[in-house]
Amino acid sequence: MLIDSHCHLNRLDLTNHNGDLTAALAFAREQGVSHMLCVSVILEDLPEMMAIARAHENIYVSTGLHPTEATSQEPNVEKLTSLASDPLVIAIGETGLDYYRCEGDITWQQKRFRTHIQAAKAIDKPLIIHTREAREDTIRIMQEENAQDPKGVMHCFTETWEMAKQAMDLNFYISFSGIVTFKNAKELQDIAKKIPLDRMLIETDAPYLAPVPYRGKPNEPAYVRHVAEFIAQLRGISFEEVAEKTTENFERLFLKR
Ligand code: NI
Repeated sequence: MLIDSHCHLNRLDLTNHNGDLTAALAFAREQGVSHMLCVSVILEDLPEMMAIARAHENIYVSTGLHPTEATSQEPNVEKLTSLASDPLVIAIGETGLDYYRCEGDITWQQKRFRTHIQAAKAIDKPLIIHTREAREDTIRIMQEENAQDPKGVMHCFTETWEMAKQAMDLNFYISFSGIVTFKNAKELQDIAKKIPLDRMLIETDAPYLAPVPYRGKPNEPAYVRHVAEFIAQLRGISFEEVAEKTTENFERLFLKR
């Protein structure tokens, strides 16, 4: 059993499945992917995401506004918590900081990040954090806002071992995407090798970032199997152990089991 802890089911490229999301989900189940967390990028996507989660089994949703998305209606804590009140919504995000894709004034990004942490605390649901080229500010804001209380995951992690440790000190999990399978990802592979198994999650971030051997092609939840297989090989442990531990971790963090 595998869980794709981060995908965007409403944005999949379904060419391989004749445009049929149900077929893509069936293929994922065949590959052993039992649960998926469909992550919000913009709040306008939520109705479609909720419809997918209601129509299929074991699909959960997060609610949040990605740090690089522009909006005319910046959500406040009340807005986020009311959107997250449905039991199918099990996380707040993705949120965080991205200085790579953002030029100029970054204070609004930081304010948005703080709002999401405050919402996660208010509703006691974990955070999904995106961070890119903003290591110090991400950790500082997590500390200042006491993000260790709702906890959460550093999704699609591509930063340093030092940052991974700082995030784990704040009760966060570290999630690896298909990037870990890329040839040039040596530093990330070292982190995936030494991180405690009880802090590891896996994801596709589909439709983006397909793992080897599908690199450059549209990604889908079924391919989280390749992330698990690669990490198992990297650590010299069985695929089953990676699958079992990352599934337990997901259930502990997001389903509070
Ligand atoms: Ni994502």
